Amino acid sequence: MKDITRRDFVRTSMAAGAVATTAASVAESQSQATAPGHIKIVALSCSPRKGQSTAAALGVCLESARQVDDRIETELIELADFRIHGNLAAGVVGPGGDQDDFPKLAPRLAAPEVRGIIVGTPVYFGGMSSLCKAFLDRAILLWQNDFALSGKVAGVLACGGTRNGGQEVTIHAVQVSLFCQEMILVGNGRPGPRIGATVWSGVEGGVLKDEFGMTTAKALGRRVAEVALKLATA
Ligand SMILES: Cc1cc2nc3c(=O)[nH]c(=O)nc-3n(C[C@H](O)[C@H](O)[C@H](O)COP(=O)(O)O)c2cc1C
Repeated sequence: MKDITRRDFVRTSMAAGAVATTAASVAESQSQATAPGHIKIVALSCSPRKGQSTAAALGVCLESARQVDDRIETELIELADFRIHGNLAAGVVGPGGDQDDFPKLAPRLAAPEVRGIIVGTPVYFGGMSSLCKAFLDRAILLWQNDFALSGKVAGVLACGGTRNGGQEVTIHAVQVSLFCQEMILVGNGRPGPRIGATVWSGVEGGVLKDEFGMTTAKALGRRVAEVALKLATA
């Protein structure tokens, strides 16, 4: 595909979604307003299995984020509730094509009170879930919408069925996409800085019994909240 062709494709394929997003933004920002002076940290679970290990571990991140300061509100969004089409190049999304739920999701992430986003994905064959990739690719709409995620703090969690199942390479792959959105990536912070939360669902008793993984989840939630609050109040 030549450059000019690709640019044209992106422009036309995003147009319908952009209109829907603008309309939805108004409604969402009215219904999801946070208390004055408060900021919001959103965790986005990219598991197709609602309420499972990735979502549970993200809940630990959010609990830790709330403990940083009373002004921090949190929300867990599960992509399992949305239809997200990743096959942009096939022209599925856009005028004449099937519309997905991304325009409903976008304003909940782009809202000004959302200062931090934690993306959590299961590890599938050493990488992110296809749902996570679809979301990240579809988020080109936000990139094109004047970098709507720019300046928001981002952290990443990966949940594998084994202890060393590819969590770190998965986190890194997600981070690269978020860097392109001008997000401010953070890891776990001191005392033992790591690139994100690496959790293991295969441990006896389930992911919340993964003692090491839970320390990384708590640390990531705390770090995202601390940096987001610092930037919001600077
Ligand atoms: C297709 C597929 C591939 C997987 N590949 C890996 C892998 O490479 N490494 C790993 O640790 N776990 C792997 N798993 C296990 C999942 O990461 C694990 O079950 C995880 O808890 C799923 O997240 P969820 O419980 O939020 O759905 C795989 C699971 C599936 C379905």
